[in-house]
Amino acid sequence: MAVDVLLGLQWGDEGKGKIVDYLAGKYDVVARFQGGPNAGHTLEFDGIKHVLHQVPSGVFHPHIINIIGNGVVLDAVIFQDEAEKLLKYDIELTKNVYISKKTQLILPSHRALDAAYEASKGKNKIGSTLKGIGPTYQDKIGRSGLRVGDILSDDFQAKYDALVAKHREILGFYNYEEDFSEREKEFFASVEFLKKFKLVDSEVLINQYIREGKTILAEGAQGSLLDIDYGTYPFVTSSNTTVAGACTGLGIAPKNIGRVLGIVKAYCTRVGGGPFPTELFDQDGENLGVVGREFGATTGRKRRCGWIDLPAIKYVNDLNGTSELMMMKTDVLDGFETIKVCTAYKLKNGEVTETLPYDLEDIESPIYEEVQGWNCSLENVKSYEEFPQEVKDYVSYLEDKLSTPISVVSIGPDRTQTIMR
Ligand code: GDP
Ligand code: IMO
Ligand code: MG
Repeated sequence: MAVDVLLGLQWGDEGKGKIVDYLAGKYDVVARFQGGPNAGHTLEFDGIKHVLHQVPSGVFHPHIINIIGNGVVLDAVIFQDEAEKLLKYDIELTKNVYISKKTQLILPSHRALDAAYEASKGKNKIGSTLKGIGPTYQDKIGRSGLRVGDILSDDFQAKYDALVAKHREILGFYNYEEDFSEREKEFFASVEFLKKFKLVDSEVLINQYIREGKTILAEGAQGSLLDIDYGTYPFVTSSNTTVAGACTGLGIAPKNIGRVLGIVKAYCTRVGGGPFPTELFDQDGENLGVVGREFGATTGRKRRCGWIDLPAIKYVNDLNGTSELMMMKTDVLDGFETIKVCTAYKLKNGEVTETLPYDLEDIESPIYEEVQGWNCSLENVKSYEEFPQEVKDYVSYLEDKLSTPISVVSIGPDRTQTIMR
């Protein structure tokens, strides 16, 4: 049995959480494989909106085992906070959330380092969520990080003290002062909370599940254009957000990867710094932001908005081997008479290209094709057949340009506002 992988194909916030929740009923296991509390995955059903940061988006289905994989970075304080909030909805995470012992721990000092590094970058700052993601992955790669399994060892405190002493030296180098002693107290309390969970060798467990024929969905965080290798470096996150991240972040062999589900907005957004070729600074951009309620689910920051960028999606489709696309927030385009689609770029050197250049700053302007909008509300649509012809034409147009089928058209934040083809 293969593992399906669900990925955002833009700069994050495509609507991954909604679709994981929507599809989760069909799966036995949902597993996060990278990222950490920089993610904000929103799910809406029964009139309630939930935003998940650390916890996989399968938790609302009691039959599902949710795994936090080794590729994830875990903030125990945020995790505990999330777990306690979910208790109010009778969701008891100790029952169905397993955590890999190889998951890296985010320490309070990692968050301080994140802030120090960002402050030192001045106007070139990444726009990090300041959750300590980059510094934690740095320590992982530098072979000095602390992992969830370490909390069970007698010398955890000593290991912690040694790493924090190193962090304090770096903070001193950056002249960055922050008193994180309160957070440290919370951290150690939350470490005790973690001990209530099943701490597992998740790579062993997942391969056992594969052999048993269990169905597994790997839930990506962020988006392919934020990938550490292939994204708009250095304005990226610190993990592999593309499909290969699911292999290393869960211990899945490539031959066991099944369908790759690519989540895209019908337009595009980005939060934080970095190039964004189709970004709009006009009334259209403003309208997308207002109608789409484009504010970050983790930081509350206003998201930058623009038209869909096909060369960028084609590029990441190759990296991911996307089997099908799911188009989100289609309803946000309801008020547009025409919709623009970027099909190529004009570079500053005069060339026209359909390929993503090494440096996106080399792009002078996107080249657009215009598509007829539907200019009416999609609110009452219940099946694909009921869509106005212009929606179907937009779907066919994108399928044709991207050589990939679109299997879902989403028309609102609620679980029910999801139209399968
Ligand atoms: P994720 O990080 O990919 O899970 O996405 P976020 O949760 O950060 O952002 C997506 C936002 O769009 C959330 O507020 C969702 O509730 C909302 N959303 C998802 N699908 C749709 C849709 O089809 N239409 C509208 N209007 N909102 C949607
Ligand atoms: P989800 O899973 C959108 C962005 C940040 C910043 C850059 C680096 O909800 O789609 P980091 O905190 O990782 O050091 O930030 O990446 N970023 C996201 N943008 N959605 C996310 O997650 C993001 N996670 C990180 O804004 O530009
Ligand atoms: Mg999000």
